[in-house]
Amino acid sequence: MPTLKQGLQTAIVTGGAQGIGKGISRRLLTDGWRVVIADIDPEAGAEAAAELASLGDIRFVAADVRREADAAACVRRAVEDGTPLGALVNNAGIAAPRLAPVESLRLAAWRRMLDTHLTGCFLMTKHSVPLLRGCRGAIVNIASTRALQSEAHTEAYAAAKGGIVALTHALAISLGPAVRVICISPGWIDVGPWRKRRTRRETPLSSRDHAQHPAGRVGTPDDIAALAAFLVSPQAGFITGQNLVADGGMTRKMIYAD
Ligand SMILES: NC(=O)c1ccc[n+]([C@@H]2O[C@H](COP(=O)([O-])OP(=O)(O)OC[C@H]3O[C@@H](n4cnc5c(N)ncnc54)[C@H](O)[C@@H]3O)[C@@H](O)[C@H]2O)c1
Repeated sequence: MPTLKQGLQTAIVTGGAQGIGKGISRRLLTDGWRVVIADIDPEAGAEAAAELASLGDIRFVAADVRREADAAACVRRAVEDGTPLGALVNNAGIAAPRLAPVESLRLAAWRRMLDTHLTGCFLMTKHSVPLLRGCRGAIVNIASTRALQSEAHTEAYAAAKGGIVALTHALAISLGPAVRVICISPGWIDVGPWRKRRTRRETPLSSRDHAQHPAGRVGTPDDIAALAAFLVSPQAGFITGQNLVADGGMTRKMIYAD
């Protein structure tokens, strides 16, 4: 069922060329949004735009969300056809949480993680807000359950995602009521089949991988896309500032060893 407000609006999806972002781009297109994928990978971006073109008006803009000039140019180009900006999905990220132990973690690796996830959210938001205000638009930030719980050697990723959860509620207070800002924290999402052709693969998931989830399975990009589509729709007009966990119930399990 289309959930779009009146009139065609543009949604920018960062990191929308592959994985969860591609799932969100596809879902928003089928819901009637015009979609602009902002991604650092031109090969993946061109492929995704071509694959999804039959579903609606989609455009790829090459952008590195860590760079302010790219963020500003991306937003400018996203609306140059005159379609108003109604949604921003800050999804771009490095989905490889484990780095070196903290004693040997290089500052450059720490900064790359923080810059991509957290600074990228800030920069894309900063340049989108003036346009989003005009539509009473919405921002959806993609964090992670790793903002809430950890494995060893994931400090930079956990800190970046925790920062996104906090940035979300701060923005919601600053930007409301004109713009709603919501965060989704996904758990384990299988993105293998959603990557660009050269690296696309079926992930060999075991029955144990699925069964450990209270929901009985590992997640898919469609699971996150359905939630994002709801959150940017007018039906979610009373939701802002929250972090919504979509993890098949994993963070609700008691996990002390027997
Ligand atoms: N897959 C999971 O299990 C999972 C779980 C929780 C959270 N997440 C988060 O979801 C988001 C998407 O993850 P995914 O698994 O789909 O990853 P992915 O690697 O499949 O896709 C990430 C996309 O972001 C793009 N990207 C990376 N750096 C960028 C930059 N600087 N500027 C613009 N684009 C950039 C990549 O080119 C890629 O297309 C990430 O923020 C990740 O941290 C993923």
